[in-house]
Amino acid sequence: MLRHDLLVVGAGGAGLRAALAAARSGVDVAILSKVHPLRSHTGAAEGGINAAFSEQDSWENHAYDTVRESDWLADQDAVEVLTREGPDAVYELDHMGAIFSRGPDGRFLLRPFGPEGIPRTVFAGDTTGHVVLQTLYQQVLKDRLRVYEEWLVLDLILEDGFCAGVLAYEIPTGTVHAVAARAVILATGGAGRLYASTTNAFICTGDGMAIALRNGIPLKDMEMVQFHPTTLPGSGILITEGARAEGGYLLNARGERFMGRYAPRMMEQAGRDVVCRAEQTEVDEGRGVNGCVLLDLRHLGEAKIMSRLAHTRELCVTFAGVDPVHEPVPVRPGAHYFMGGIHTDLVGRTTIPGLYAVGECACVSVHGANRLGGNSLLELLVFGRRVGENAAEFARNQKGVEISEARVRDAERELARIVSRSDGERWAALRDILGNTMSREMGIFRTGEGMRQCLAVIKELQERYKRVRLDDRGRVYNYDLVSAIELGFMLDVAEAVVVSGLARQESRGAHYRRDYPKRDDDNWLRHTVVHRDPLGNLHLDYLPVRITRWLPAARVY
Ligand code: FUM
Repeated sequence: MLRHDLLVVGAGGAGLRAALAAARSGVDVAILSKVHPLRSHTGAAEGGINAAFSEQDSWENHAYDTVRESDWLADQDAVEVLTREGPDAVYELDHMGAIFSRGPDGRFLLRPFGPEGIPRTVFAGDTTGHVVLQTLYQQVLKDRLRVYEEWLVLDLILEDGFCAGVLAYEIPTGTVHAVAARAVILATGGAGRLYASTTNAFICTGDGMAIALRNGIPLKDMEMVQFHPTTLPGSGILITEGARAEGGYLLNARGERFMGRYAPRMMEQAGRDVVCRAEQTEVDEGRGVNGCVLLDLRHLGEAKIMSRLAHTRELCVTFAGVDPVHEPVPVRPGAHYFMGGIHTDLVGRTTIPGLYAVGECACVSVHGANRLGGNSLLELLVFGRRVGENAAEFARNQKGVEISEARVRDAERELARIVSRSDGERWAALRDILGNTMSREMGIFRTGEGMRQCLAVIKELQERYKRVRLDDRGRVYNYDLVSAIELGFMLDVAEAVVVSGLARQESRGAHYRRDYPKRDDDNWLRHTVVHRDPLGNLHLDYLPVRITRWLPAARVY
């Protein structure tokens, strides 16, 4: 039996930051990840990390912008932690060796990301996520932390109401393991792959959220799925908001800067939810270009594009066949980020003692209904450290428990059942139906009728999933099996998203309902909490939004 004081599941920025903080608090830490840490989805973050460094700025400004952009759904005490601790968290990464872009005076360069107006986003060209990931991983190597690489988490092990470890599938060998731990941190990332068109890597399948849900642990604000306004058609690859922060603008088929009609003051820098709806409206009303609008960077000139957006240029050339130095780039909204997730408190505790969650799989509630671009990298630095330290403290005071080998045998039998099934459907067909249905009914614009249809499709897919058949019956690197397991996670998360959205009868941030187009603070200024009972039925509950300083007001663009 493998045994550690603390096990971190997931090796993106949140998982690595939490693992380092815990290890440096003196406990034995291991990391378990379904891919090599440097292939984690944090690497896809391009534009930067928000923190109040500028003289014109303050943590209060940053906090207010975060709360307003959340459409007032973020918990203000959590936002205060995020923004107060932000600058120190970035300095820590800088001192670990992160190579941020700097001006001639040696200070961080700052971009004006999103509607805040104040330059606040620290960046490393347009590959900030890679720099974050590489810096943290170098520290993990330096500290010699154990990494179970290419291990897929299957389930939690709960003993006497405590989390005592996880069951995991070692992908290279096809072996099931129990990994015992006095505390577990889930840092498994988001679930953008629920949608047909997404910026998310193939690995973003909601594993941790689904496992929490299956164990009766509540998820919060799952209906709040952020779409990013600039993704490439076909691949869904992200074109960073940095492109607009550096002065790029959006055009429709008539060559109009259409954002003037939707956000006359902020134009392309308006909230992501607002820009996405504007783009989609242009397309739906016949002013799009093959289902897209155009991102024009030509006026920035080659020198600026090469110094600030070199990676973006390369992505456009490689994946859209368009050089932004010479031509506008077709872009459209794509599913980008789960603002909801496993319900936690300010130090990552879930409802199960010993189980913590952090990063995109968690909902500490700093993003509410619409995340400020650049706040997710900050969240994983600030809360990664807090959650790591807290979980380490818990683990230190906890006795380890014995885990019965029967759990491993049960999981092996379950996987063998899937592998040996000789008739049934391929998972890929079901996944495509899920993605297309979610994109159509649970995307930028929603209606009650559409969401009810979406839920019916998900229920049908859950039934069909019971008969999924594989082509690969081998043990070594059986990605056919891995994909089938991931689809099971995705279907459970999708159900939670739709059930949560159907109940919220208002429009707020990313949750825009054509049948309830107004925000309704009297009835809906509250968090949606969804949990599953032992019979598999979902139940909804609500929690108040924690408002400490800033009373809800309109967002004016
Ligand atoms: O546009 C971007 O670079 C994405 C940043 C973010 O989602 O925080």
